[in-house]
Amino acid sequence: MAAMLPGLNPPYHTRVRRSVGKMFDRDSLVDIKKSVERITEELLDELDVQLKDGEADLSAIVSEELPVMTIGEWLGLPAADYPMLRSLTHDQVFAQELLPSASQLALSDAATGILRGYFTAVIQERRKAPGGDPISTWIRTWDELERDRDKADEAVYRLVLFVVLAALETTANLLSTAVWLITSHPRQMGWLRAHPEDISAAIEEVLRYDSPTHVVSRVASEDTVLAGVPICKDQMVHCMVGVANHDPAQHVDPHLFDIRRRASHLSFSSGIHYCLGASLARLEVNTLLTAVLRRFPGLRPSRTPEWAPRVAFRRLLTLPVVQAEHRDGVGRAA
Ligand code: HEM
Repeated sequence: MAAMLPGLNPPYHTRVRRSVGKMFDRDSLVDIKKSVERITEELLDELDVQLKDGEADLSAIVSEELPVMTIGEWLGLPAADYPMLRSLTHDQVFAQELLPSASQLALSDAATGILRGYFTAVIQERRKAPGGDPISTWIRTWDELERDRDKADEAVYRLVLFVVLAALETTANLLSTAVWLITSHPRQMGWLRAHPEDISAAIEEVLRYDSPTHVVSRVASEDTVLAGVPICKDQMVHCMVGVANHDPAQHVDPHLFDIRRRASHLSFSSGIHYCLGASLARLEVNTLLTAVLRRFPGLRPSRTPEWAPRVAFRRLLTLPVVQAEHRDGVGRAA
């Protein structure tokens, strides 16, 4: 993981970050937006069918699917591989956990090995039949930056793997957390139905209130003092961004979920490592919330969801929901 983007320092970090290109700028998001909207509607059709029988797990039906389908289509990966990629990334992220057990690290190692084989083969295929997809573009870019073909392929592999790892669990968790927090606060949900222009602000409050990643780690490159705490060279520092987002010195009544707050947060980090996929994650959650508010006004959690027992990467394992009677008659009985 130390060789992936967040572990790099300038000037190499600058070089790798530039090689990614304009990943999700306004223009490229226009096309992706159409896919995200189409996929979201299809997944919500499935949710609708399952809700007719009563309770449905929104996490499994929607949140786990939307990020892998979006990134998979964007990278041009076969849909048949999505379940495998999703399951391997769940295992792989243990390497980034705060206190992983030996067995979790073994799972993570095994997953990394399989993912390396998979993406190495994808890169070889794209070399033989390049297209207009991001992986082919990164190959062209790295062939110009690096004379050694093996080093160029290694750089592309690290980019593709990191983008997939960065995009799946984090976004899946944000989608479930957003639906959980909004549907379990019916008055705020009602406000958003009447004021869809506030959905973006509500998403920022979801990100602040329960960040998908709670820890950002760094290694000190020299002896230093951080907020009064002496840190020695090579010591690792874990910045608890989930806690910082609840700092009472920054936020009034920080443990209150309030979509009118308009507060800033550190959930996408900050500085040179600021998340490159933030606009895609925001697009996915905005599309989902907008569609849920329109199609399922009576959606409610039927039980408290289950979270995986982890610290760094939050993970909602299930989000059981029902469609309750809604007073404007749009909703259906559960
Ligand atoms: C809710 C969803 C997401 C969250 C909460 C999130 C969070 C973060 C955080 C905290 C970092 C900084 C790590 C550090 O400073 O050490 C980061 C970096 C990064 N993220 Fe995201 N991310 C999300 C979605 C995505 C998506 C969808 C993509 C790509 C499709 C992505 C790609 C990246 C990349 C490439 C970096 C490395 C940037 C660098 O080091 O220069 N992320 N993300």
